[in-house]
Amino acid sequence: MYVCLCKGITDHQIRRAVAEGADSMRDLRRELGVCTDCGKCGVCANRLLRDTLNAA
Ligand code: FES
Repeated sequence: MYVCLCKGITDHQIRRAVAEGADSMRDLRRELGVCTDCGKCGVCANRLLRDTLNAA
């Protein structure tokens, strides 16, 4: 599913980025561009980031 509509970023892409070492919203912003436009995806992206890190 799409998490960030502005940049077309899916949950799969975020999970992959975490698997490859991303561990902060700053990393996701830099690597994928998540939350760099309207910002509405921030809460959802952060929750997914935390859930993915906790599941690792
Ligand atoms: Fe992610 Fe707009 S939906 S920046």
